[in-house]
Amino acid sequence: MISPSSTQNPAADASPAGGIGIDTSNMYAERLGPQGIEKNELHALAPTLKRIHEQVCENMRGGLEAPYACLNLHHEMRPWLARIEQAAEALRHHADVLLIGIGGSSLGAAAVHYALHTTTPAHGGPRLHFVENIDPHELYCLLSDLRPEASALLAISKSGETIETVVQYLILRDWLTRALGEQEARRRQWVVTDPERGWLRELCAREQLASLPLPAKIGGRYSVLSPVGLLPLAATGVDIDGLLAGAQQNAVRCESDDPGDNPALELAALYYLLDTTRGKHVSVMMPYVNRLRLFVDWYCQLWAESLGKRHADTRRAPAGTLPVRAMGAVDQHSQLQMYLESRLDKMFSFIRLTRWEQDAVIPLDDSSRTAFPHLHGKTMTDVIHAEFRATRQVISDAGHPNLTLELPALDAGVLGQLIDLYQRVTIYTALLYDVNPLDQPSVEKGKRLARQYLGHENP
Ligand code: PA5
Repeated sequence: MISPSSTQNPAADASPAGGIGIDTSNMYAERLGPQGIEKNELHALAPTLKRIHEQVCENMRGGLEAPYACLNLHHEMRPWLARIEQAAEALRHHADVLLIGIGGSSLGAAAVHYALHTTTPAHGGPRLHFVENIDPHELYCLLSDLRPEASALLAISKSGETIETVVQYLILRDWLTRALGEQEARRRQWVVTDPERGWLRELCAREQLASLPLPAKIGGRYSVLSPVGLLPLAATGVDIDGLLAGAQQNAVRCESDDPGDNPALELAALYYLLDTTRGKHVSVMMPYVNRLRLFVDWYCQLWAESLGKRHADTRRAPAGTLPVRAMGAVDQHSQLQMYLESRLDKMFSFIRLTRWEQDAVIPLDDSSRTAFPHLHGKTMTDVIHAEFRATRQVISDAGHPNLTLELPALDAGVLGQLIDLYQRVTIYTALLYDVNPLDQPSVEKGKRLARQYLGHENP
């Protein structure tokens, strides 16, 4: 039977967790051999790392107007919390909240919600539905299950004009209005968007919809610690204070300009050097925790949209590595064969939970004990730990650089640390490649073209 683990810290969900363990030893030549990075290569990069760290620090300061204000939201959002909580409280009066948003306006909240929903069962808040994709079948199925009189809409979009989000919003608003009338439908709509610009902002003013601003300098994929993520998460009972405290804990850990004392700087340097000097063009993130599935989706978007850029000087190799999600242990039965025998063009970031909240002793009968004597007295967590250790070993033996993030728990504080860590690593890495981490010029081109195909005369 699955039951709370005997090694569980009973306060783990409520109290701030300890720091994430970060083991980078398998990224270095000393442990891995020639596919790894020599310590002196990192030393040679030290002046550049110092410079980009200073650049990041300078551009974080200056409140919400700073270009990298996203790295300071753990501080900047504090005065906003009362307002966010007030809106969350209003959302909690509804049984179902449909979050309408795509990409950075959805993935962060979805990642945290998915990671924590099993550990916050008694929140009493609404069910949160992520209506992210344009998929008429899925929307039809969702609406078949919901009642307008028990539902509210939360539309989230930085630009306030993203076509997928606008279309979903219009359809869902119509669904509410037909059932409840215009006035009641309006009372059930919340919006998070740019404070001044965009169609959604104009709509809020015109129709007096409840709204929260998304600070102008905070872009989609860096916005999970702003109202974009905090509002829906607070509505479903996530400890958003803990989330911000975790981000702050990591920010403090990353204050130094020395990669030996700043894990984000060390990770950025390693990811960058492995790509540019060892041909590791694919970056696989592989958690051995199912609840982190959507966290990896969030990371993939952050990494891909921030780093995948061409330089103005076309003689330089394009920046960025391809982020790939693999789930332990499932993808041992899917992707691992390729990782072990195909090209040595990959690096791995494993994530594991050192202590599980629940566990189950494997109940053996005579037949299974004879067939699997090594399972005698073992638990599910013994198996997942063994699977992780085995995969990491074979990946290392195959010559793939890899690091491991060791999570002491999976709670809001630890997720805050992970979010801050990867936002920081992404920005440092972009600066190492000398590209802008905050824009996505070619994505914008695609959005314009889609409008043109729909018949927009001046897309
Ligand atoms: O990270 C980004 O900037 C993008 O993924 C956006 O979040 C996404 O395109 C949605 O844009 P918007 O928030 O303007 O609706």
